[in-house]
Amino acid sequence: MLPDALRLLLCPVCRNGLMPGGDHRLACPSGHSFDAARQGYFNFLVGKGTVFEADTAAMVAARFDFLSRGHYQPLADTVAELATPALVGPEAAVLDAGTGTGHYLKRLLAAAPASAIGLDISKFALRRAARMNPDAVNLVSDVWQPLPVKDDAVDVVTVVFAPRNAAEFARVLRPAGRLVVVTPRSGHLAEVAGKTGMLGIEPAKEERLAASLDAHFEQHSVRELDLALGLEPADVGNLALMGPAGHHLDRSALEAIIAGLPPVTKVSARFRISVFEPRKQPSA
Ligand SMILES: C[S@@+](CC[C@H](N)C(=O)[O-])C[C@H]1O[C@@H](n2cnc3c(N)ncnc32)[C@H](O)[C@@H]1O
Ligand SMILES: [Zn+2]
Repeated sequence: MLPDALRLLLCPVCRNGLMPGGDHRLACPSGHSFDAARQGYFNFLVGKGTVFEADTAAMVAARFDFLSRGHYQPLADTVAELATPALVGPEAAVLDAGTGTGHYLKRLLAAAPASAIGLDISKFALRRAARMNPDAVNLVSDVWQPLPVKDDAVDVVTVVFAPRNAAEFARVLRPAGRLVVVTPRSGHLAEVAGKTGMLGIEPAKEERLAASLDAHFEQHSVRELDLALGLEPADVGNLALMGPAGHHLDRSALEAIIAGLPPVTKVSARFRISVFEPRKQPSA
């Protein structure tokens, strides 16, 4: 059965609606068509390649292993808890922007059944996400391009450690919808960041996050979550590889560092989960 979130999609080329156009295929009235990859996701990247760096297979594998061991489960629980009140009724719909391996979306859908779109620029991430959330529409797409989603289509947009396109999130959200954003707080993973060369975890200052969204959103609430993790050496390696530094870490140097770690490393994860609501647009 095709995911019911298909009704929320727009053709990324001409922005008409999309319909099933045969087995594992989507088509628009202008004749553009998109075949599902073997794993079930659709590649909606069109035109010139994007300048943004997609997560690599190795980064995605590290993220999958780390998240599958449940270290960030309380974060997934909190995102689900904060998103659930906005997901009511049979038309409820969610967009997970930068869905990665789909772990957070899966947790959310367990709490609140909804039509779901998982979007990421990395096809390696989408391969995992499509298996994790087979009832969602999983799209390779660039969050900095116009999103292939209709206006006022979703009740919740979740963004967990991923880029935020405020104007597009506001466009696709219904007026009573919620944007749920997870960012790291100062000191996040500090015990291992220096050791493993995991630079690039730059805490998003709350004011900066709010300012970047300000034209389209106002803050509704903020939750802070601190986790005291006890990580095995392999977990620390995965943490180092799965973040932005994974693009340029020296693997052999990292392996040497990991080999020298004690059986358990204590690490503090410090998250901020911010909930925003769309600003009311002045009536025309
Ligand atoms: C740090 S990961 C977080 C993934 C997932 N939300 C999680 O927390 O497990 C950031 C994700 O954003 C994706 N990403 C980066 N730039 C993007 C873009 N321009 N459009 C869509 N996704 C993007 C990456 O491919 C990656 O999967
Ligand atoms: Zn089209």
